[in-house]
Amino acid sequence: MMVAANVLAEAPSRKTFDVARIRRDFPTLRDDESFLDSVASSLTPTCVVDAMSEYYNRYRANVHRGTYDLSLRASEYYERGLQAVARFIHAKPTEIVFTQNTTAAINLVAQTLKWSPGDEILVSSIEHTSNMLPWFRLTYAAGVKLRFYNPGREGNFDLNVLESMINERTRLVSMTFVSNVLGCVVPVAEIARICKRKKVLFLVDAAQAAPHLPVDVEAIGCDFLAFSGHKMLGPTGVGVLYIREELAARMVPAALGGGTITTGACACSSVDACQFSLVTFAELPWKWQAGTPPIAEVIGLGRAVEYLEDVGLDAVEAHDRDLTRRALIGLREISGVEIFGPLDPEAHCAIISFNIADLLPVDVGRTLNERFKIAVRAGDHCALAYFKEIQSDKRTWGNVRASFYLYNTQDDVDRLLGAVEKIANSCQ
Ligand SMILES: Cc1ncc(COP(=O)(O)O)c(C=O)c1O
Repeated sequence: MMVAANVLAEAPSRKTFDVARIRRDFPTLRDDESFLDSVASSLTPTCVVDAMSEYYNRYRANVHRGTYDLSLRASEYYERGLQAVARFIHAKPTEIVFTQNTTAAINLVAQTLKWSPGDEILVSSIEHTSNMLPWFRLTYAAGVKLRFYNPGREGNFDLNVLESMINERTRLVSMTFVSNVLGCVVPVAEIARICKRKKVLFLVDAAQAAPHLPVDVEAIGCDFLAFSGHKMLGPTGVGVLYIREELAARMVPAALGGGTITTGACACSSVDACQFSLVTFAELPWKWQAGTPPIAEVIGLGRAVEYLEDVGLDAVEAHDRDLTRRALIGLREISGVEIFGPLDPEAHCAIISFNIADLLPVDVGRTLNERFKIAVRAGDHCALAYFKEIQSDKRTWGNVRASFYLYNTQDDVDRLLGAVEKIANSCQ
């Protein structure tokens, strides 16, 4: 498979991006295999695992609950993780809540906001089910109406149409930043401006953006933003919910428990006489952090953020784009390959999805793995509304998705292109 020479040109700002050195930090990688499924979950560098082992081996204790050295040390490292995560998205530490993952973060918002029958929520039809089902539940639990903006097969957002779907009943707009199925980047800052003008809350699902793009909640101007640690070099079991400070202070979290109230300041005369109005909530962000937080995971995620900062998110973004561009241009040249999402490589962020002739995606996925040692995802990628819109036969729903990250190389892309070409040729 030939790829145009200009596709390979390195921009000067990326001189220090050393993918061979980066790969040494990820022991899971092997040179004779290509891991192209970081969108589902990324690999983890040794330093993140080490940071978490260090916690378990050397200062294993709960945080913010002990007066002894071990607990103080655990709290110090936990707070370092909190600071890193806040810095990573240009938020204040008071605006960060740790959840289990993106899904739990979105559910927390859905369960916390107060809804009235007839309220409307607007999502797009390229959302992951994690940004649909928490809202869908409200349709029968609270009489809320869920509406879908359809950006079409390629994920092109027409902001005039989107704006026309926001009316006086709309309470919230919730949209992905980067589509996990198409790789297109959604104009979230523009959508935030529309929402602000219309006085509607705006949640950004940044599960696929946080690993690949600089994310700045201030620049975007959203009210909520959610992402997962395990997709951005961090451990499983930790996600992040950003809540704009003014809202975080005003709202009463759906999850309450240990750590969320200041027990000494409670004005209730007895347990029986306890009322919400007399409760003093803990200061932000602890008001939102019910129970023991994922301590080792926050420490690991903080280390993952530091790792990404060391490499430079701009450099990661540029590297991912180079690989994506190379893959897209190559795939476009293979007869029988149907590409989903924008055909312009610059509009893709690290994700490409495709089908080969009339082969079932799952069969292509297995063949890529068994014959060519390539790991990709095959199926509907939890983007049910998207495939429902564009594919009529449920039995063949879905496509094959390849995704790239900082540890992938041009060899990975070429292995994929060579394999797809062979599979496509065998169909002719
Ligand atoms: C865009 C998007 N949103 C939400 C999720 C859910 O993430 P998690 O499973 O970590 O909660 C995913 C997972 O792939 C995703 O791609």
